[in-house]
Amino acid sequence: LQRDSKFSQLTQDHVKYFQELLGSESAVIDGVSKDASEDIEPFNADWMRKYRGHSQLVLKPKSTEEVSKILKYCNDNLLAVVPQGGNTGLVGGSVPVFDEVVINMQRMNNIRSFDEVSGILVADAGVILEVADNFLAEKNHIFPLDLGAKGSCHIGGNVATNAGGLRLLRYGSLHGNVLGIEAVLPDGTIMDDLCTLRKNNTGYDLKQLFIGGEGTIGIITAVSILTPQRSQAMNVAYFGLESYEKCQEAFRAAKGHLSEVLSAFELMDGRTQKLLHKATGKKLPLEDEHPFYCLIETSGSNTDHDSEKLQNFLEHVMETEIVSDGVLAQDQTQIKELWACREGIPEILGHWGGVYKYDLSLPIADMYALVNDVRDRLTEAGLVGDDESHPVVDVVGYGHMGDANLHLNIPTRRFDKEVEKQLEPFVYEWVQGKSGSISAEHGLGIAKKAFIGYSRSETMVKLMKQIKNLYDPNGIMNPYKYI
Ligand code: FAD
Ligand code: MLT
Ligand code: ZN
Repeated sequence: LQRDSKFSQLTQDHVKYFQELLGSESAVIDGVSKDASEDIEPFNADWMRKYRGHSQLVLKPKSTEEVSKILKYCNDNLLAVVPQGGNTGLVGGSVPVFDEVVINMQRMNNIRSFDEVSGILVADAGVILEVADNFLAEKNHIFPLDLGAKGSCHIGGNVATNAGGLRLLRYGSLHGNVLGIEAVLPDGTIMDDLCTLRKNNTGYDLKQLFIGGEGTIGIITAVSILTPQRSQAMNVAYFGLESYEKCQEAFRAAKGHLSEVLSAFELMDGRTQKLLHKATGKKLPLEDEHPFYCLIETSGSNTDHDSEKLQNFLEHVMETEIVSDGVLAQDQTQIKELWACREGIPEILGHWGGVYKYDLSLPIADMYALVNDVRDRLTEAGLVGDDESHPVVDVVGYGHMGDANLHLNIPTRRFDKEVEKQLEPFVYEWVQGKSGSISAEHGLGIAKKAFIGYSRSETMVKLMKQIKNLYDPNGIMNPYKYI
């Protein structure tokens, strides 16, 4: 990959313009000027420490008007840009590839309004997900999205990646929950579609292009989103199961017995739980080891009603030996502890050095077979082992079973060409063979860009390119990524 020479190099004049526009505290500068107020490196490196750019300038606008002026100037001067939220994305989309200007949204962090009757929240893109959810908790509502990075990721970043997460099973995708978007197009045009209506069939629903657009056609500056009532009663159970078939039976039983109170059904293989224990020393909830674990959450409005349902479900899965062992959280602390066994996985997988991550949609029956096939393949190639001479630590699977979304992860001691050769295109061909998707919820970024053809036809890719060219004719928005 080469830097596109059509883009300008950053000059002192550019920097001067931005400093005058934003004030010097809103520009983190490296190299061009000596007065760097903050270390620029964290803005150049992604969460996995796998992708690293060399931007010399990070801009932190405080208003939509400032975003508009920044983009107009960049477009007029052919300066490439990267929109950045909490920088927790997992496909390298949020950091520059070369010297693109980073536009970081952290200073646009106001809640604009909340309607207690409709449950509609309007907020700046840079509001941290957990901050939004805590705000809603006080109003007895809940953000319809939850994920392990909630303490750092922005709601604008969530919308830009169309993040799925732990509650999609219950509340559905952001494509349904986001009612409106305010965004700035590369030429500085402010697209004010911050609609707060649930129904609005007046022409193309253009905001949908920004949901999952990964910052390639404009910068989201605010969103309006439908938030559900927070449930009074919440229960979490953690089970050990003897096979992947049993996990599927447990999922069917959960849907049957728990129906409308089921709010999450997550899968973890035994290997992820072993690695979690190894990396953190944390005691696991069950004494014995099991090849698979499931985490089930229920939330509803009536404690007695939910408990009764859950009790019936537990009796059923124990009596029929669908699950081998299990534990039910007794209080809020235990709920958090059980969730940590699932949410803590991404963090610890990087513990040995690096991790290859695949985020896949597959028919639920076939989901785990891929993990076994990849483990066999890497083992046969002599790449998996307990000591330094083997690059691969293990091959593990976990994910949002309720959404048929598998996270195949290969934690390694180092990034290794031989491992990569065994993984790609093998994984993508396998997924294509099952008519799955090579990116269920993380997006394409730079990591998956070259593989879009495994999940989308030439016609679809051509139409996407036409849309990109329509919105961003100069190609300044997040270049080298996505499309
Ligand atoms: P960033 O990482 O900063 O950016 C992501 C992409 O969006 C980039 O392409 C960027 O250019 C663009 N972007 C950011 N903000 C804007 C904006 N305002 N306007 C336009 N474009 C923008 N994802 C899931 O789907 N489900 C999960 O369960 C999940 N769990 C995670 C757990 C952990 C521990 C981590 C580290 C990540 C997880 N993710 C998950 C990945 C997920 O994509 C991000 O956590 C989150 O959605 C990204 O938000 P962010 O603000 O960090 O965006
Ligand atoms: C998760 O479900 O934990 C996230 O999508 C992050 C990951 O895939 O590791
Ligand atoms: Zn996930």
